[in-house]
Amino acid sequence: MNAPASFDTDLVPLYADHLATMKRRADEALVRGGFDHLVVPSGTQHWQVFDDRDYPYAVNPQFKAWLPLTRVPYSWLVYTPGERPKVIFYQPFDYWHVVPDAPSGWWVDHFDIHIIRKPDEALALLPPAARSAILGEPQSALGAAPGPHYAPNNPEPVIQYLEYQRSYKTPYEITLMRQAQRLAVRGHRAAEAAFRAGQSEFGIHMAYCAAVGQDANDLPYGNIIGLNEHAAVLHYTELQRVAPDPLRSFLIDAGASFHGYASDITRTHAYDTGSEFQAMIDAVDAAQQAMCAGVRSGVDYRQLHVDAHLTLMGILKDFGVIAVSPEAAVATGVSAAFFPHGLGHPIGLQVHDVAGFAASDRGGRIERPAGHPYLRMTRVLEPGMVVTIEPGLYFIDLLLDEVKKNGHAASVDWSRVDAFRPYGGIRIEDEVLCTDGDADNLTRPAFAEAG
Ligand code: GLY
Ligand code: MN
Ligand code: MN
Repeated sequence: MNAPASFDTDLVPLYADHLATMKRRADEALVRGGFDHLVVPSGTQHWQVFDDRDYPYAVNPQFKAWLPLTRVPYSWLVYTPGERPKVIFYQPFDYWHVVPDAPSGWWVDHFDIHIIRKPDEALALLPPAARSAILGEPQSALGAAPGPHYAPNNPEPVIQYLEYQRSYKTPYEITLMRQAQRLAVRGHRAAEAAFRAGQSEFGIHMAYCAAVGQDANDLPYGNIIGLNEHAAVLHYTELQRVAPDPLRSFLIDAGASFHGYASDITRTHAYDTGSEFQAMIDAVDAAQQAMCAGVRSGVDYRQLHVDAHLTLMGILKDFGVIAVSPEAAVATGVSAAFFPHGLGHPIGLQVHDVAGFAASDRGGRIERPAGHPYLRMTRVLEPGMVVTIEPGLYFIDLLLDEVKKNGHAASVDWSRVDAFRPYGGIRIEDEVLCTDGDADNLTRPAFAEAG
């Protein structure tokens, strides 16, 4: 899928190592839970209420962690320590829909593969439920009472261990994540061109999807594509069909999926590249790159987030938007009105990946710093973790009114707010891999490669 021909060949040894890692993790998780088998259903289709329409199928992340199958519901992964893992692969007799192809690819040689034609046929192939950690959604249960009933039990010690370990990406996963960056960058380039050509938010969205080769069912999250003031709505997904006049700014937060792995990239563009808003984008961009460089082993992500507040307030001070020192803006909570979300989050199989708050592989939670309710990552960075770094500055009346109500109106130069409000806001977001040494920004090289 959209990768050089040699790509799959290069994945063969990487996948073998990845699978070995997955088995080691499963061995330990089963010991902790006191189980003999790990059983993971891929998930089921879901239907809309009082209707025969199904929602887009979303694979169980615990399943796609093992193998790159993202479109095959009613399938199962079975792992028993010391044995070859088994895939129960659902390939129905169905002339209404396209049936999944027989399994192929770099992963198949590692598994015993059993094709089933009906979901319940899995029952005869699954290990005893009582001895199995079964990780999945309740709907994956098989067999109606009083007959055999095989239902996910989601044991906490098993899930806590596996989710915690998933923070440490294998080289195979990083390779897939780099490709997810390249795909998204194609879309970002096409989207910027569509913006400059005067297209509407909807038109830009379509240009993005066409360039990536993915639509809403495939993308890791709904595209955020906002022109002018819409850039101030953090999760703006309305997609107006008519472009505003005049065009001033464009914020796009959009990713791509590759074999189940997500990218999550944000860029902000000024229509007039000679404008003061462009200068502010450039300042945030430079600051963002410095923050990305701060992704180093041993660094507390909470500190990166708190430091980002000071840096961003420094930019607002330079542009005359705040009338107090950056330190004072942070201390009084004014900074939270301009930067009202977290600096970023773990990413991988899920765009907001698991274990961002995990205190250990046996549970526990690292709380957010007081006054930062939207931060999604509170851990100390370690090699193998991938996080987003996504500072932003916005002009959001709802939050700025709070600044006034809280008695800090004098901290802000409101004429400068008026000047920037029509542009909405700025966010710049990359993915960064923490290594033993320097930060490895996964996103910027994909833009550089694309030229
Ligand atoms: N696109 C959602 C986020 O950046 O977290
Ligand atoms: Mn993000
Ligand atoms: Mn994003």
